[in-house]
Amino acid sequence: MQFNFTIQKMDLKEKIMRLKTEKNAVILAHYYQTADIQDVADYVGDSLGLSQKAAETNADIIVFAGVHFMAETAKILNPNKMVVLPDLNAGCSLADSCPPEAFSKFIKQHPNHIVITYVNCSAEIKALSDIVCTSSNALKIVESIPKETPIIFAPDKNLGKYIMKKTGRDLLLWDGSCIVHEAFSMDKLIELHNKYPDYKIIAHPESEEHILNTATYIGSTSGMINYVKAHSNEKFIVATEAGILHKMQQEVPNTELVPAPAKEDNTCACSECAYMKVNTMQKLYDCLLNETPQIEVPEHIRKKALLPIERMLELSK
Ligand code: 13P
Ligand code: SF4
Repeated sequence: MQFNFTIQKMDLKEKIMRLKTEKNAVILAHYYQTADIQDVADYVGDSLGLSQKAAETNADIIVFAGVHFMAETAKILNPNKMVVLPDLNAGCSLADSCPPEAFSKFIKQHPNHIVITYVNCSAEIKALSDIVCTSSNALKIVESIPKETPIIFAPDKNLGKYIMKKTGRDLLLWDGSCIVHEAFSMDKLIELHNKYPDYKIIAHPESEEHILNTATYIGSTSGMINYVKAHSNEKFIVATEAGILHKMQQEVPNTELVPAPAKEDNTCACSECAYMKVNTMQKLYDCLLNETPQIEVPEHIRKKALLPIERMLELSK
């Protein structure tokens, strides 16, 4: 039984690889995807890296193994290419926490502000923004704005608070957050650290302030991987979505890595993004074969959303 299952999985991998070549498709995957999906991807990266790859690809089809806002960003950058997402239910709690109508009202209530939005938001929200950022470049983007200019920062309040602390600037924050990064348990983290006192804690800035206060390093998923690579003789407790451990462990095979523990009510002992995990190898194969579900963005929104993304890419060179 187990043997058959392995054969089936191998077949699927081979079928995906073959179809990808036949259709001149590229598979872009986020670090939070399951290990098997990461292993068939042409590129695995953080939100910034994935946007950069999407901007430069020559492929006819972009298979986005990630969540909806990421695939949407790829479509905004490539209106003439087909962008498919394995499962349209791959959403994001952070993107959902910022509905366009309410955000538009918020902007109108605070005129003269520059609107910086974290890439984890819908195309409609990007269309209302002056510049987009990711966790890799948020500090740089905020610092590129003159000190006296007031800034609205949305939708992630945790990332926003972290940037405020780092820059000493006052940002007007939208009250959004990521359910996955808010699921870490401080009590369990302390317990784990007491058990492994020589482990360093590294954290994603979508995490809450009390978690970030325990961290030796705070950064994007790519930043965390690079940090671990540069300190591979140390041991780490990793506070972000647990999918990152696959690539991280490949990069530092001899380094001890432990996922930060989540609260009691979480289904796994670690923190997993249920949205990211709705994508499967079967769905990835099906979407490439059937060329559906495709991501579409109305042209009037796409044009407006493109400018703030292009500004970000320009500033990130
Ligand atoms: P990065 O990979 O850009 O750090 O973002 C993390 C994330 O939560 C994506 O949804
Ligand atoms: Fe959204 Fe959080 Fe999942 Fe990232 S980890 S996709 S921010 S819900």
